[in-house]
Amino acid sequence: MKNILLLGSGELGKEFVISAKRLGATVIACDSYAGAPAMQVADQSCVFSMLDEAALRAAIAEHQPDLIVPEIEAIRTEVLLDVEREGFEVIPTARAANLTMNRDRIRDVAVGLGVRTAKFAYAETAADLMREAEAIGFPVVIKPVMSSSGKGQSVAKTAQDIQASWDYACAGMRGDRQKVIVEEFIHFEYEITLLTVRQRSGPTLFCPPIGHVQERGDYQYSWQPQGMRPELLAQAQSMADTVTADLGGAGIFGVEFFVTADEVIFSELSPRPHDTGMVTMISQNLSEFDLHARAVLGLPIPKIEAVEGASAVVLATGNGSSPTYSGVSEALSEADVDVRIFGKPTTRPYRRMAVALAKGQDALSRARAAAAKIKVHTEQN
Ligand SMILES: Nc1ncnc2c1ncn2[C@@H]1O[C@H](COP(=O)(O)OP(=O)(O)O)[C@@H](O)[C@H]1O
Ligand SMILES: [Mg+2]
Repeated sequence: MKNILLLGSGELGKEFVISAKRLGATVIACDSYAGAPAMQVADQSCVFSMLDEAALRAAIAEHQPDLIVPEIEAIRTEVLLDVEREGFEVIPTARAANLTMNRDRIRDVAVGLGVRTAKFAYAETAADLMREAEAIGFPVVIKPVMSSSGKGQSVAKTAQDIQASWDYACAGMRGDRQKVIVEEFIHFEYEITLLTVRQRSGPTLFCPPIGHVQERGDYQYSWQPQGMRPELLAQAQSMADTVTADLGGAGIFGVEFFVTADEVIFSELSPRPHDTGMVTMISQNLSEFDLHARAVLGLPIPKIEAVEGASAVVLATGNGSSPTYSGVSEALSEADVDVRIFGKPTTRPYRRMAVALAKGQDALSRARAAAAKIKVHTEQN
């Protein structure tokens, strides 16, 4: 029986724990606060910051896990590189976790592999940023190299916006590197997550593409399959295969692409289940969490099957604790609709608290209608 140390215990980790435990694994769930979603279903839990080098080393030394499975980006990944050298196994690899923690590192890898990306440059001062933005051409997208969920990200339409974008990026930055990526704004027709599964033995597998819509840096709803011209899908699969093969190891990857009328453009990737992939809990025979569990445990994946499905998020409105939920019964009164409440102990504005899922015809409108029925309540609001 494999013993897994899960680094990060949010809603994606919670579903992964359920999938892994169903296959006989034991899981120690770690996060910076007690009662995190994955801790509620794991064998044991551990509370410390994943950015705290000493605490992370101590947890690995204490639990001697067979597998270290990162669930978030913000981890002291240098520790993972070290312990991998000592013989611990990091999913998918310590290098993958290290490269994807920073937008510039994974972007440089993609470019080195000849993968098509938006035009981009890096800047370490507002003056650099102005020069690079002008070279790329407005509008441009500006993101801190260390950030997630859209934090510090903005679009500069003209040179007048650059100072505000720089200040916003600096305020939203994680870590100590004052560095941003500035990108050509892609007028895409749609964007997708291509869930890509690397197996220990067996070929790399692809789930049908997932379309999604983002607001304020977080996904709002997603659907599967996103219809794509076969040659564009083939391009996306080939790029996903190239990048994930370079990163190596076993597990699922969420590979993000922008799709224009005639082109697929690589954006970024997560070497772990992807939030937009929560739709697979209802649309696929094996969810992205089941696939990740099988891949990391070295179990076979003979077939991935999908029907039409969609997911829509339920967000909190204010700051509070011990949330309760209304409208769940109304949401579930429709056939082929399901709900996952994550069990987060506290709320803040726009925090994702639950997701509504639907499958079959008009899955997207039914998932969104179900999500709209569910309200989050706390004493403070
Ligand atoms: N160059 C770009 N052109 C157009 N839209 C973009 C660009 N970069 C990011 N976006 C939009 O912002 C979203 C979040 O950006 P992303 O780089 O994926 O950051 P995060 O790591 O926060 O998910 C994307 O899913 C897309 O909708
Ligand atoms: Mg993204």
